[in-house]
Amino acid sequence: MEVMIALRLPRDAASVPVIRRMLNAALVAIGVEPRIRDDIQLMLAEACSNVIRHADDSVEYAMEAEVSEDQCVLKVADDGCGLPDDALSPACGLAEGGRGIQIMRALADGMRVADLPHKGLSVRLEKTLHFAPDAPGERLHTVSANGRSPS
Ligand SMILES: Nc1ncnc2c1ncn2[C@@H]1O[C@H](COP(=O)(O)OP(=O)(O)O)[C@@H](O)[C@H]1O
Ligand SMILES: [Mg+2]
Repeated sequence: MEVMIALRLPRDAASVPVIRRMLNAALVAIGVEPRIRDDIQLMLAEACSNVIRHADDSVEYAMEAEVSEDQCVLKVADDGCGLPDDALSPACGLAEGGRGIQIMRALADGMRVADLPHKGLSVRLEKTLHFAPDAPGERLHTVSANGRSPS
């Protein structure tokens, strides 16, 4: 099973609930456990909110989600100013605010934050998926893992 969701949206706060709901609907459809969906929604909200708040020059931004039978990979990319030098330092976490990156790091099973070559920032978040018993995602996982084609 492979699900790809790709969105390009204006850097407007109204985009965040739209993205969250679209991805959540896909995860509900395949039966991802609620606590995993909650983590994914929170990570996504932090990454998108950062674009809205901090990526000043970016008119639009992109969100891609790749869902396979065992993980969800999110990529949020803007073409704003990129990270200031101290944004990822531990000291930054002691300041007021500044918890979004820590929250994403705590919830994700893998995270990469990188300035893009030309301009802007890319945040990549990985989350291992767990399914409710008898969920469609479990069944599709078994078929895919056996290498059988659907008839
Ligand atoms: N998309 C982005 N573009 C530019 N800077 C960013 C972006 N995301 C995060 N940052 C920088 O990283 C800092 C830390 O982000 P975060 O931990 O979410 O804290 P907060 O958003 O509360 O400031 C931000 O204050 C900002 O300087
Ligand atoms: Mg933030």
